[in-house]
Amino acid sequence: MSVRFSVEEFAKLKKLLPVYEWGLRTLLTKLNIIHEDLKDFQDNHSIEYIRSRMKAPESIAQKLYEMNVDITTDNAKKYLRDIAGLRIICPFAKDIYFLADLLKSMPAVNILEEKDYVSNPKPSGYRSYHLILELPVFFSGKTEYITVEIQIRTEAMNFWATLEHKARYKYREHIPKHLSDELIVIADKIAALDDRMFKIHEIISLINQDVQEI
Ligand code: GTP
Ligand code: MG
Repeated sequence: MSVRFSVEEFAKLKKLLPVYEWGLRTLLTKLNIIHEDLKDFQDNHSIEYIRSRMKAPESIAQKLYEMNVDITTDNAKKYLRDIAGLRIICPFAKDIYFLADLLKSMPAVNILEEKDYVSNPKPSGYRSYHLILELPVFFSGKTEYITVEIQIRTEAMNFWATLEHKARYKYREHIPKHLSDELIVIADKIAALDDRMFKIHEIISLINQDVQEI
């Protein structure tokens, strides 16, 4: 099986991807509004920044290949839930849960799946909160439903995941044991650091309250 779309399937994919892109952009706009409202009107700084990305056709083909299904546009739509992806970076772990709850209460989106790798890290040491959302995209007088994967993590978790991802890529998923062991140790240290930073943040917030009350 060749790890790429045939010419016909690629033409079909080129028509499907914009639908995901439109849905992703719509959701990103909604999240940016939430971000502005929290920051400017609620003095809530739970969101540091938001990133979005579309999965490249080569990565879609590769993933379908690894799933052992034909590399077709129909299968991409049927089997992949992360063609469109959003990442929300927060200052502290507690912000992750606040945001997950907020996203779950958004109108016109369905939560298809929820994975808490913050409380239950992966064996690799990976931490993040994942939501798979389903939302409608209205175009050409019809509605299509797409899925978007949202990953919510702290800056520190993101730092770790980015480096570990590079290692996975470099070693083609077979990270040497001494490195993967080291990454697990660092992941735990990062979680402990996140905790300590949060405690300092709480102390500073209390001091600020006192200042305001004087
Ligand atoms: P895929 O891993 O994408 O095939 O889907 P899945 O159904 O197994 O979902 P999962 O929640 O495990 O992972 C989804 C995404 O989270 C991945 O595509 C990565 O972006 C990220 N992720 C999951 N596990 C790890 C990990 O161990 N390290 C890093 N760096 N990222 C991870
Ligand atoms: Mg996985």
